[in-house]
Amino acid sequence: MNTYFSKPEFVSLLIQELGDPEARVFNSPGLSIVLSQQKGEPAFALDIWQEAQIAQIDSIGHAVKLLKSQGIFGYHKAFSHQGRGVLIQETLRKVPDFNGIVFPIAPDIAPDVTGIKKLKKWGGFCLLDAHTLLFSKNVWKAIPGGVITFLENKNDPPNRAYLKLWEALTWWGVYPKPGDQCVDFGASPGGWSWVLSTFGAHVLAIDKAPLAPSLQRLTHIESRHVSAFSIKPGSLGALDWFVADIACYPERLLPWIQAWIASHTLKRMICTIKLQGAVDLKVIRAFQEIPHGRVIHLWHNKHELTFLWPATPI
Ligand SMILES: C[S@@+](CC[C@H](N)C(=O)[O-])C[C@H]1O[C@@H](n2cnc3c(N)ncnc32)[C@H](O)[C@@H]1O
Repeated sequence: MNTYFSKPEFVSLLIQELGDPEARVFNSPGLSIVLSQQKGEPAFALDIWQEAQIAQIDSIGHAVKLLKSQGIFGYHKAFSHQGRGVLIQETLRKVPDFNGIVFPIAPDIAPDVTGIKKLKKWGGFCLLDAHTLLFSKNVWKAIPGGVITFLENKNDPPNRAYLKLWEALTWWGVYPKPGDQCVDFGASPGGWSWVLSTFGAHVLAIDKAPLAPSLQRLTHIESRHVSAFSIKPGSLGALDWFVADIACYPERLLPWIQAWIASHTLKRMICTIKLQGAVDLKVIRAFQEIPHGRVIHLWHNKHELTFLWPATPI
C-alpha cells in the first residue's frame, strides 16, 4: 500500500490523479493522508511513502519493537497523537529538529527530489490514531510528510515568495554558485531574485512591475521591465538557472517553457504553475509529460504547483 501526504484542499485532485476511488483518506488539521494500492507520482503529493504498512499497537514499547524489527529508526510525522509519536521516536533514536530549518539546509538532510538517491534511509512512521501505526521504509522526502518550515528572514526579502524557492532548492539539493547566470521571470517585487543573489549569482529580473527599492540597489541584480513572453526563447545566452513565478494561465506557460527547454540554453528550470479556479488535470499532465521534468507540490505553494527540470538535478 502507498501513502500520499497532501494538503486537505488538494486531496480530491490527488485521488483523481491516482484514479483510485477506493483510496482511504485520513485528515488532521492542515494535512491529509491518502492510502492507496496505486503507485504513482501525483503532482499534488507533498510526500510519498511506498509500500507502507499498518499495524495495531498496544503500547509505545510495542510500536518501538515493531519498528525496530522492520529496520525503521525515524522519522515521526506528527499526524495524530503527537505526544505518543514523539515518545516512540525518542526511544528509537535522536533525529534532527525540523522546526525552523536554517536555509540552506545541510546536504545530509536534503534528499534528491526524485527519491532515487536517498541520503536518509531511516524510513518514516506516524500514528493514525492512538493504536494504529503507519510506517514505511521507502520514503521520498527526508522531512516526513514534506512539511518543511524555515527560520524566516523577515528583513531582507520583500515578501514571503522566497520561501517557495528555498523549498524547491532544498528538495532538489542543488544551489546556485557565485557567478551563475540566472533569469527570474515574473520577478517583482523580488523575493526569488533576492534568493539567487544571496548565493552571489548574477540575476536578470524580468517583470512589467518594478523590484522593491531595496533590491534595485543590489549590484548582482539587473532588471528589465518587459513582458516575459516578449523575450525570445534562447535569446539570453547560456543560463545556469531559469526561474519563473509569473502570474499567468498554465496554458500560456506550457508552450513557452517548452520552447525555452528546446532552445538548449538552460541548465535547469524552476517554474511555478499558477492554478486558476477549477484545476484542469489535463494541463498538469502535459507539464508532467515534458521529458525529464517533474511537477511537485511544495509545502509553500498555495493554489499552484512547481515544475522542476530536469527532475534529477545537475
Ligand atoms: C507571484 S508574483 C512574483 C513574485 C516573485 N517571484 C517574488 O519572489 O517576489 C507574479 C508576478 O508575475 C508578474 N507577471 C505577470 N504577467 C507577466 C508577464 N507577462 N511578464 C512578466 N511578468 C509578469 C506580475 O507582475 C507579478 O509581479
